[in-house]
Amino acid sequence: MTITAQVVHQIARPSGFPSASDFTFTQEVLTAPAPGQILLENVLFSVDPYMRELMDVAGLPDGSALWNLNSPLEGRTIGRVLSSADPSLAPGDLVLHRKGWRTHALLPASEVRILPRYDGVPLTAHLSVLGGTGLTAYVALTRILRLQPGEDLFVSAAAGGVGTATGQFARLLGAGRIVGSAGSATKVKRLVEELGFDAAFDYHDGPVSDLLAGAAPDGVDAAVENVGGDHLEAAIGSLRDFGRIAWVGAVAQYNSLTSPPPAPRNLFDVVGKSLRLEGVLVRDHRDAQPLLEDFAVPHIRSGALVPQETVVEGFENIVTAFLGTLRGENTGKMLVRAGE
Ligand SMILES: NC(=O)c1ccc[n+]([C@@H]2O[C@H](COP(=O)([O-])OP(=O)(O)OC[C@H]3O[C@@H](n4cnc5c(N)ncnc54)[C@H](OP(=O)(O)O)[C@@H]3O)[C@@H](O)[C@H]2O)c1
Repeated sequence: MTITAQVVHQIARPSGFPSASDFTFTQEVLTAPAPGQILLENVLFSVDPYMRELMDVAGLPDGSALWNLNSPLEGRTIGRVLSSADPSLAPGDLVLHRKGWRTHALLPASEVRILPRYDGVPLTAHLSVLGGTGLTAYVALTRILRLQPGEDLFVSAAAGGVGTATGQFARLLGAGRIVGSAGSATKVKRLVEELGFDAAFDYHDGPVSDLLAGAAPDGVDAAVENVGGDHLEAAIGSLRDFGRIAWVGAVAQYNSLTSPPPAPRNLFDVVGKSLRLEGVLVRDHRDAQPLLEDFAVPHIRSGALVPQETVVEGFENIVTAFLGTLRGENTGKMLVRAGE
């Protein structure tokens, strides 16, 4: 038995915003699994802003996960077992793994996690609110910020995957006033009307510090910061004494490695207001996955938590979907679905 997989390679290192020509679709013939291996058909793919960092020569700040040119790429994915040479898995089983950006994958059974199945929870949720995206939001709120009921919160890139999960989780955790920033009037409307935010603004409408001051005139207790640059400066400016920032991402700088946005001019306010600014890396908090599922699954079942996703159909559109996340074309988690 052989299968011809469609596989995406990166073929050029972009300067600035990447383009479809930085990628190519190629083919790879996969054979039947050897003992201990499984052959998967991938059905659902996560595409994420951090992948833009992997496209650069330097890769992530710790240099650990650079994408090699002309090689298969990595990304969180759900696959269905087609053939198994390992007793732990059988054809039809659904698994989570990292051999994304390809229609099929041949890999050791030890590199996959069997997908927990919860009645009433859609498959897509395992890559959105129950996946790394939801885990990031959950850890930022509960472990880094230790958000207390009644506390006011600012969330940047609030209409993205992490942002929509953060806003909804914070509401369920009893937050006070929740304010979000996003890149369009449509997203702002949706944050307020559907996603539990008390106020939101389009960051194109003026200096972010002014817009945040207008939306949270009494300041906030805590912030989940996904953007960097002017958004981080605004968060520092808006925090009350002893406030906390969970710094999750800096999406404003991923396409401008050589000229990132300036550091916050008010950084010394961290001292002046006794603030805590703490970075979050989701991979340091894998142990919180069961806590996230215990928290989120009942809320999904009750309808109190609605996973926010933009699902692009067709593996052939995976590059377009990835580029779309960098342009803000998604609301909620950007996913790509292959087949049924
Ligand atoms: N530390 C960790 O372990 C970890 C884990 C997951 C994610 N992250 C980071 O968290 C952030 C959000 O990730 P995500 O998964 O939620 O991504 P996402 O769903 O793709 O949302 C990101 C959003 O950022 C906005 N954006 C893009 N460029 C921007 C810019 N220059 N200024 C302001 N907003 C911009 C876009 O929406 P608009 O229309 O609003 O512009 C986009 O939809 C990213 O920085 C990501 O790298 C970190």
